[in-house]
Parts: sequence; structure tokens; C-alpha cells
Amino acid sequence: MKGLILAAGRGTRLRPLTHTRPKPVIRVAGRPIIHYAVENLKEAGVAEIGVVVSPETEKDIREALLGYPVRYILQEEPQGLAHAVAVAGEFLRGSPFVLYLGDNLFQRGIRPYLEAFREGVSAVLALVRVENPRQFGVAVLEGERIVRLLEKPKDPPSDLAVAGVYVFTPEVLEVIQDLKPSARGEYEITDAIQGLIDRGRRVVGVEVEGWWKDTGRPQDLLDANRLLLEELAPRVEGEVEESALTGRVVVEKGARVVRSTVIGPAFIGEGAVVEEAYVGPFTSVGPGARVVRSEVEYSILEDHALLENVGLRLQESLLGVGAEVKSRNGLPRAHRLILGDLSQVELA
Ligand code: G1P
Repeated sequence: MKGLILAAGRGTRLRPLTHTRPKPVIRVAGRPIIHYAVENLKEAGVAEIGVVVSPETEKDIREALLGYPVRYILQEEPQGLAHAVAVAGEFLRGSPFVLYLGDNLFQRGIRPYLEAFREGVSAVLALVRVENPRQFGVAVLEGERIVRLLEKPKDPPSDLAVAGVYVFTPEVLEVIQDLKPSARGEYEITDAIQGLIDRGRRVVGVEVEGWWKDTGRPQDLLDANRLLLEELAPRVEGEVEESALTGRVVVEKGARVVRSTVIGPAFIGEGAVVEEAYVGPFTSVGPGARVVRSEVEYSILEDHALLENVGLRLQESLLGVGAEVKSRNGLPRAHRLILGDLSQVELA
């Protein structure tokens, strides 16, 4: 059994965060999203892992996965998930495989889907009941068997969305060879699976246990960060001076918390500084980020972000790598903003 993680996407719904970096390297609870995919595969006993990257994402994905023994496969053009699988044909070399969308998070790992993959089954799909099936692939079940699949249907026939983990026999590659692009011009994995069903193959759905997150939108990232922080084991390896830490808090090595209050669950990354500040529940402060004389909760600060002298508490906020929010004293009392394309600011 091989593993194939897809990390070639543009992450358009997460702009501006994804203007400069791919979605799977954004940190939730201190770690790049793609780490959780690799760990889940390893935990399920899948040792040989390929990662599909694009010319835009390759550098950052490689950097995020430094030290992980994975193979990189280049998808030159963004032509859809089924196309990404076809590009990986040589790596897969006739082996059954787990396809794992690099922006998906599964609380309880992926073992149940591998266990359901037995003799006579051509594909296993993780399924989850959602309120907004129009945004996903949607399955129609008869017993455990999937009899129909539709990609982002206007009129969903069920509330069972396709979560981003699939287990396949190599036959799916044959079906992909004959696929036609969809209306949005992509080779859809959903169409490939429908092709298996049309050949009379057994495709089964297994409902996800525990929570699942597709980190497509900013709100999903904050939510995923919250869910992961809730499972955090507290650990203080950095320096804490004249500060109060309450609840589950991680302070990584090289981080400094000085004259501050931190209420967990919260994560303070390596080399970060929290000074005369308040860091509230469900907040991740990335490596080298700084929170100085400011308050923040339910937020993600990425690497080297800065929050300084800000009078009002920051909430439900995402600060990208090196982003700065600070106020200065003196006149004129005015907002001064330098925002990249598609940035969002909500002032109280
Ligand atoms: C993809 C799949 C969709 C699936 C979703 C899960 O959509 O095409 O069937 O439900 O992932 O995350 P995307 O998020 O790439 O639009």
C-alpha cells in the first residue's frame, strides 16, 4: 500500500494567505497542515509516500516536509485531482494506494478506510454528513455501497460529502486514462470513481468518526486550530517569567513569555515572544512571532508575525508570515495600512 498526498493546489479561497504559500504549509496548532497527513499515513502503516506538488508549491512543501522521507512528483498544470493521480502513475507502479488531499484533517486518522479495503472492493471513500453538501463531492449510498457520485451538485441527492481520503486499487488509473474534463475544465477524481461504479465495481463508503476538516476557507483554519489545540498536551520548554499560564499551554523551546497571561489551549512556537500581553484560548503563535503589549485570542499568528501596542483585542484573526499589526503613539490618530492584494481588515 502506497500513499499519495496532493499538495499542488492554489488555495484560491484562502487568499491572501495563499498568494505566497500553499495551503498545506499553513500552521494549525503549531504544525503545517501537511504534517498531519504524513503522520496519519505512517500511523496507518503506509510507509511509501509520494507528494504531488506544482511548480508554485514545490519549494514550500519540500521545506515543510524536511526530514520526512517522501517522494515528490511534479504536476506541471493544475488539471484536477484525477490528473494528479495520473501524473503519479510511475510512483504508484501498480500498487493499491491511499489518496490523501493535503488540506484535509482527520481527528482519528485513516485506519478505518484501510480496514474497509478488502478483497473485491475497488475503492473506499471516507464520507461525512455536512450541512452544505453543494461544496463537496456527494455520494448516494445503498447499504455500504456507493451507487452514485456527484461533484459539487446544485441539487445534492444526500448530505454525505466525500472527505479527502480515498483508497484505490490501481484500476482507477485505467479509468482516469479515458476521462474527459468536467465543466470546470478539470479531470475530476469524482468522475473517475463514478467510472469504477459504472464498470460494476464495488465502491464503499465509510463514515468519518471524530471530526474532519477541509481547510478551504479562513474560518476552517481557525476551527481546525481550535479542534487540534483542544487535544494539546501541555508542555513548557521555553522561558516563562512573571507570567500566569492557565490550562493547556505549550511554550516551545526558545520562546519567551514575559509579564503576560496565557489562557489555554494555546500554542507558543519556537522563538516566539509574548510580552506584557494576553494570549487567550484557541490561539497559535507561530515560530518567531511576537505579541507585545497586545491581546489576542481565537487566532493564528504565522511565523514572525507581529502584534504590537494594539489597544483592542484581536479575535478570529489570521496573520500570515511576517504580517505586522501595530499602533504607534502620537498624532495624527489615523489608521495607516499597507495591505497586499485581497487582504481583509475589519476595524471595530
Ligand atoms: C475536493 C473534491 C471533493 C471533496 C473535497 C474534500 O474538492 O473534489 O469531491 O469533497 O475535495 O475536501 P476541492 O476542495 O478540491 O474543491
